[in-house]
Amino acid sequence: MKDLLPLLKTRIPGPKSRALARQLRHYESRNITYVSDHWPIFWQRAAGANVWDVDGNRYIDLTAAFGVTNVGHTNPRVVAAIQKQAGQLLHAMGDVHPNELKLKLARELVGLTFGRWNKSEGRVIFANSGAEAVEVATKTAAIHTKRPGIIAFEGAYHGLTYGALDTTWRADFRSPFSKQLGHFTAHVPFGRLPDVAKIQDFGAVIVEPIQGRGGIVVPPNDFLPRLRRFCDDHGLVLILDEIYTGFCRTGRWFACEHSGVVPDLVCVGKAMAGGFPISACIGSAKVMDSWPESRGEAIHTSTFMGNPLGCAAALASVGEMKRLKLDARSRELGDWLAARLARIGKVRGRGLMLGLEVDNAVPIIEKLLQRGVLALPEGSQSEVLGLTPPLVITKRQLDHCLVALGDSISHG
Ligand SMILES: Cc1ncc(COP(=O)(O)O)c(C=O)c1O
Repeated sequence: MKDLLPLLKTRIPGPKSRALARQLRHYESRNITYVSDHWPIFWQRAAGANVWDVDGNRYIDLTAAFGVTNVGHTNPRVVAAIQKQAGQLLHAMGDVHPNELKLKLARELVGLTFGRWNKSEGRVIFANSGAEAVEVATKTAAIHTKRPGIIAFEGAYHGLTYGALDTTWRADFRSPFSKQLGHFTAHVPFGRLPDVAKIQDFGAVIVEPIQGRGGIVVPPNDFLPRLRRFCDDHGLVLILDEIYTGFCRTGRWFACEHSGVVPDLVCVGKAMAGGFPISACIGSAKVMDSWPESRGEAIHTSTFMGNPLGCAAALASVGEMKRLKLDARSRELGDWLAARLARIGKVRGRGLMLGLEVDNAVPIIEKLLQRGVLALPEGSQSEVLGLTPPLVITKRQLDHCLVALGDSISHG
């Protein structure tokens, strides 16, 4: 993989990106893509940590496209696996007549989680997006405990479909739909335990080991172990949302491994398949086996569940994480990057899930784009500049980004 530095041929966004953005505004809901004189660029292709736009400009990606391309954009082995599978079988009958890859991936996911954590058995339910995996987890907890309430945390982001949205914290996402929500969630401050007096109707706690979209917030070291004990003491199911933090992002395969906490259910998505939309909820056999045995009609399923292309991509992607030892690479590069970022400002995060505290990340990100660096704001007030690059990024590429970041902050 060549580690190419930015190469800008036009003012950013270039004329083709701007023309396409104007057209998109006519055909896509105006709520979706933010369009201004400075934003967006249209991506044409990508490889490793590089992205090319339709105007021929080349960028370094510090976002991994929302923390998805941990194994690098268009990782050749993932692409080859998808191509091979595409010629063979695009779609099977998820909950009726399945494809063998679903079995292989389920076995791999159980082995990577409960198998490694405490050599215990686990079971998987596949889904297509992170939010859906969260809904599988909350449904599983309800089936297991027969108690409807979920405890979540202030700042949490678990997705925006109705069930997941109920557990997500931010008012701007929730309030237009508040009357349609189930209101089964109570939010408590992140890093603290729930109040024992108020948990009678609650069956589960859902938590991100490190809050991602909430602003790369790392809780105190003893938080997850204390939460685990709290759940055990009160018969609550502990759901870890590792959709962002999973698959080597934080320097371990899963972020819970920093503290040795084993959840009852873990939600994964994003990086699992290197760019193909597939997600899963993996649970301990004890909790998962509360679901009734299928008599031919699954009470939770979906058309594309365990899609063969997604499974092939995920198996190849996990294979690449192992082959390239991306957990260690994320840890080492993350420490290296955090030390350099600390010369610019205050840093948070772990591994290559880092955030730089700033007053407002938005103008900095627009300046970075002009310098060929793709980055995103995190936090409800955009108070953090996120650094979650593909884990295959090189020090040379990161060095370039650090110079661009220093310039973008100090020169305004
Ligand atoms: C921690 C976490 N959970 C859930 C989600 C929702 O995932 P999706 O956007 O695939 O529905 C996200 C997305 O950013 C996330 O960061």
